[in-house]
Amino acid sequence: MQITAAVLRSPDGKHQLEQVDLADPGPGEVLVRLVGTGMCHTDVVPRSMEMLLPVVCGHEGAGIVEAIGEGVSDVTVGDHVVLSYDSCGECVNCRRGIPSYCEQFLTRNLTGRDALWGTPMSAEDGTPIGARWFGQSSFATHCLATSRNVVVVDRDLPLELLGPLGCGVLTGAGSILVALDVQPERSLVVFGAGAVGLAAVMAGVVAGASPIVAVDLHEHRLELARELGATHTLNGSASDLAAQLAAITGGGADYAFDTTGNTTVMNTALAAVRMGGHCGFVGVQTEPLTLDTLALVGKTVTGILEGSAVPQTLIPRLIELWQAGRFPFDRLIETFPFDQINEAEAASLEGRVVKPVLLYDRRP
Ligand SMILES: NC(=O)c1ccc[n+]([C@@H]2O[C@H](COP(=O)([O-])OP(=O)(O)OC[C@H]3O[C@@H](n4cnc5c(N)ncnc54)[C@H](O)[C@@H]3O)[C@@H](O)[C@H]2O)c1
Ligand SMILES: [Zn+2]
Ligand SMILES: [Zn+2]
Repeated sequence: MQITAAVLRSPDGKHQLEQVDLADPGPGEVLVRLVGTGMCHTDVVPRSMEMLLPVVCGHEGAGIVEAIGEGVSDVTVGDHVVLSYDSCGECVNCRRGIPSYCEQFLTRNLTGRDALWGTPMSAEDGTPIGARWFGQSSFATHCLATSRNVVVVDRDLPLELLGPLGCGVLTGAGSILVALDVQPERSLVVFGAGAVGLAAVMAGVVAGASPIVAVDLHEHRLELARELGATHTLNGSASDLAAQLAAITGGGADYAFDTTGNTTVMNTALAAVRMGGHCGFVGVQTEPLTLDTLALVGKTVTGILEGSAVPQTLIPRLIELWQAGRFPFDRLIETFPFDQINEAEAASLEGRVVKPVLLYDRRP
């Protein structure tokens, strides 16, 4: 079918709205008409990996199922769905119930192509365009997902706002509630107060952590962190950051969580954790991490994917918490019309908007 998709064709180029052809849903697949799609920082990754281009990014889609392929039984036409990361369902980790560590995670989510480098989308001239980004490529009016990476939600929810629950918010909340399993009255330091970090702050409140310290370079993000429950905020550029963290946490934090991917910050996070504490990393790292000889002594470190969350379990829980007023993730969101996708990306990269959500000009 003919759809409109935002195609990224060059590392420094804009996402261009193009008329493209999208294949019918194959076995196990569902066709989703998008209502809203969040922008996650990971959507800029193809800009530094030219071999992935051209590609349609977007992996926080929310929409309505328009058609289903052969063998799909748990999702039906008309269902309202939140799209999340993809997994194979067959590898050891998928069978053990930890699909975010699917052995095919990288190929299924971060290449935009399927295992044989195929794709269900082509341009008007017939050339292929990657449309398997996180098993969805949802910067488009329609996308193909699988029954494994859609989560059915109630039809009376504001569907256009729910997309971020599929990745950034899921990752921040899951890292605290699942991966680090933060316990009440324990100290938590969150580095980076973007969408992932602020979701972690909100989840820290849900978990009963105390104190909760947020560290960022943008004062307005730190202000939002305080409104969302951080007991302390610190500017990451402070020369006495380590001493301030030690003072607030009584000598060392029980948990530290880095969302910056900056190796200096990752080392600060590790150093801020007390012996017996747990440090989680989720930021996309751009250079090798060099550790001091004693950096790991007595500490647990986890490289976390998608918060270790199972979307079908955590997304409904986060929606319940939001309905109870305990997880106000909608405060991170600012909406943009689909054709302002490049403005939305710039607003996010410049730190002005925490979580842009693109709207497709129609309500469910
Ligand atoms: N591992 C996963 O499964 C997963 C999932 C989603 C996102 N991610 C990654 O997580 C990271 C965070 O995503 P996001 O959407 O929240 O991004 P974001 O850009 O909104 O947030 C990052 C924050 O870190 C802050 N920061 C940067 N340098 C800093 C420093 N030196 N000290 C303190 N703060 C600093 C920035 O000001 C920004 O607020 C990205 O790298 C993204 O690609 C990973
Ligand atoms: Zn798997
Ligand atoms: Zn993401």
